[in-house]
Amino acid sequence: MIEIEGLTKRFGDHTVLDDVSLTVAPGEILAVVGPSGAGKSTLSRCVSALEQPTRGQVRVDGQDFSRLDGAALRSARRRVGVIFQSAPLLRRRTAAQNVALPLEYLHATPESARERVSTLLERVGLAERADYLPAQLSGGQQQRVGIARALALAPSNLLADEATSGLDPATTTSILHLLDELRTEMGLSIILITHEMDVVREIADSVARLDAGRIAEYGSVSDLLLDPTSSLGHQLLPDRPAVPATTAGETWQVSYASREVAGDWLTAITSAPGAAGTRIEVLSASIEAIRGVAVGRAVLAFEGAAPRGLAEHLRERGLHARPVAATVEKDAA
Ligand SMILES: Nc1ncnc2c1ncn2[C@@H]1O[C@H](COP(=O)(O)OP(=O)(O)O)[C@@H](O)[C@H]1O
Ligand SMILES: [Mg+2]
Repeated sequence: MIEIEGLTKRFGDHTVLDDVSLTVAPGEILAVVGPSGAGKSTLSRCVSALEQPTRGQVRVDGQDFSRLDGAALRSARRRVGVIFQSAPLLRRRTAAQNVALPLEYLHATPESARERVSTLLERVGLAERADYLPAQLSGGQQQRVGIARALALAPSNLLADEATSGLDPATTTSILHLLDELRTEMGLSIILITHEMDVVREIADSVARLDAGRIAEYGSVSDLLLDPTSSLGHQLLPDRPAVPATTAGETWQVSYASREVAGDWLTAITSAPGAAGTRIEVLSASIEAIRGVAVGRAVLAFEGAAPRGLAEHLRERGLHARPVAATVEKDAA
């Protein structure tokens, strides 16, 4: 359980985090997104007690880190496992020896360490690679070693700072899948710092967007998807390539999110007043489930101008529509 309350962090007169409050329950994955320099890594370092808050609190499993020091702080720190981008493994040590590091620091007996390491390597799918050096492992395998090492001291919380950056999409998916399983098995509270919306969509329960040290948006992924005014919700919609329009009219993007699937959401568009007789090209359309929410999205080209009052007509039917530049590709939201 991670509870961040009114966390402010200043370096000199530079406020890097400004009154940040976030909660991650056991078994929950919170994604933190935001542009470079927004303060994400600083947030992570405050949660792992590598930095002290200037103001506010970080409580891990109910314990306020800022009130601890010495042995008590070191012991509390063990409750937070940390994985980084391109797992910084010791090059001359095997996978097993890398995973054993935190246990050595704690003076675990060689026997108990060996047993723990083999359980962990087995769990991350690397039992056969125990004696390999990092250089003999793929990027994804190295990250698995990093995860096993982060779990060595059985933390109840995990921080991942850009842990899948630089991995190919298939490897990213398999690492995310592993984290997803681990949080369920171990009831981990996970903070996942990422700049990839695909990652958020795939496993996060909640998401916070940091902007210049402040929380610009924060909520459950499904609530944000259901909120047509949410910028994060919009970014969470999957990108779908649109084919070029053959006519030179207005292009609109229509999206839909609901807990119940409405099979006829596209017909709401053709039934809009003034739509009769207008040629409408569907340039792309999809519907899929994200975190239990049915999400539809379409890009439509009208022969000329879109029917007047289209956005209102659609809004009444739970659809969010807006004109976009004719070449709709990546989202500019
Ligand atoms: N130890 C430090 N001393 C001074 N400034 C720092 C320190 N650590 C981070 N910063 C500043 O804090 C801001 C946020 O950095 P960071 O947390 O790394 O952002 P992000 O991870 O979102 O890219 C940056 O402007 C960075 O220069
Ligand atoms: Mg960072």
